Amino acid sequence: MDRIEIDGGIQLKGKIKISGSKNASLPILAATLLTDKKLQISNIPELADIHSMISLLRSLNTKIEFSKNCCLIKSNKPDSLNVSYDLVRKMRASFLILGPLLTRYGYAEVSMPGGCAIGTRPVDIHLDGFEKMGAKFKIENGYVKGKVAGKLKGNIVKLKKISVGATENLMMAATLADGITIIKNAAKEPEIIDLANFLNKIGADIKGYGTSEIIIKGKKKLEDCKFKIMPDRIEAGTFVLMVFGCSGKVILENINDNVSDHLIKIFSPLKNLKLEKKNNGEKLYVEKIRKKNVNLKVSTREYPGFPTDLQAQLTASLIKSKGKSEIKENIFENRFMHVSELKRMGADLTLEGSKILINGVKDIYGAEVMATDLRASSCLIIAGLMAKGKTIINRVYHLDRGYENIEKKLQNCGIKIIRVNR
Ligand code: UD1
Repeated sequence: MDRIEIDGGIQLKGKIKISGSKNASLPILAATLLTDKKLQISNIPELADIHSMISLLRSLNTKIEFSKNCCLIKSNKPDSLNVSYDLVRKMRASFLILGPLLTRYGYAEVSMPGGCAIGTRPVDIHLDGFEKMGAKFKIENGYVKGKVAGKLKGNIVKLKKISVGATENLMMAATLADGITIIKNAAKEPEIIDLANFLNKIGADIKGYGTSEIIIKGKKKLEDCKFKIMPDRIEAGTFVLMVFGCSGKVILENINDNVSDHLIKIFSPLKNLKLEKKNNGEKLYVEKIRKKNVNLKVSTREYPGFPTDLQAQLTASLIKSKGKSEIKENIFENRFMHVSELKRMGADLTLEGSKILINGVKDIYGAEVMATDLRASSCLIIAGLMAKGKTIINRVYHLDRGYENIEKKLQNCGIKIIRVNR
């Protein structure tokens, strides 16, 4: 198993090219099951999760060429509509193929998903929505078996809780359903807008995306297109927090105006950070400025609030800031595995229910630590950059699920980071 070694105490200085968004690529790849026409999708990051989704699509008779961050795809009729546990267990986003399969073929058997160890993460909201559209489900031997008599029927589907994945799954299913589907209490994440833009480009009729009410008029069939995936706002936000944690000056490249505005907004409480748009928001200048006490109160929220996917990284970036801060996790009930690892490096953190209390310390120290999930692993990199001495991070396969070429990107900014194969 690979591990990462970091020599801490160096400032981050240079330029970083942000990759395409993992969380937009995964649903868009799942959506390619909706048509047998040729699709070309660019700016797809080369990540373990993307390879898992590609393997899954190939198992369903989809032809895919993937090189230089671009996928050429043609989804042919599969021989079997059963997707095995082996393909689904690695990544929860695999469940996003259920909507496209049910709506195009009227049947699907998908293993209950695995994914990050950050809570129970059920799929009831997805299934309730499909049932409203006429699907029937059985759960047998760890599989969700879904069946539709004829075609899915458009309906009003009100999500009992805002869910990114359920919004995406239902939106995809509705594109080929009979009639109009209205998703109420829908998630508004930019990745949902990217998916809707892709679906409209292949001929779907979707309105209201980016708001809490999405209206989809079902079509008989969908067409071909070329599409470019949006930049990864979570990757970009992770680099911003690296600069906040270990100081320096960085220019983030290959982003867009919306992502720049979003980052400026969510990080506005960090007064020791300068964020400035360049080239109409296609670049973002990031600089750590004068030392002030930091006494933050941040709660994770659905978009446009502070993303849960940056909670662990924010925690790490604050452990050496003078003052007391508080981060409340509202989206997942158990996203705190990083806390004990950070404490092993000398951080003064207390977990109180769903709140992390941070008491800034003068120094933290390199240690051998373990990555427990995707974002917890980038949080340990931030801590490693801030620590005195060497940090060794084990189980970095979590990191490879979501960060493209992270060592290279950091090495280019002067950081001493290497990957060691054991
Ligand atoms: C997506 C993102 C993930 C991010 C999360 C929240 C992708 C591939 N993943 O995950 O990185 O952390 O949004 O922004 O885009 N829930 C239920 N029942 C369901 C579905 C969800 O109770 O059927 C709960 C979850 O347990 C969680 C909350 O709803 O507490 C939000 O989850 P959801 O928005 O669905 O997250 P994902 O789509 O899995």
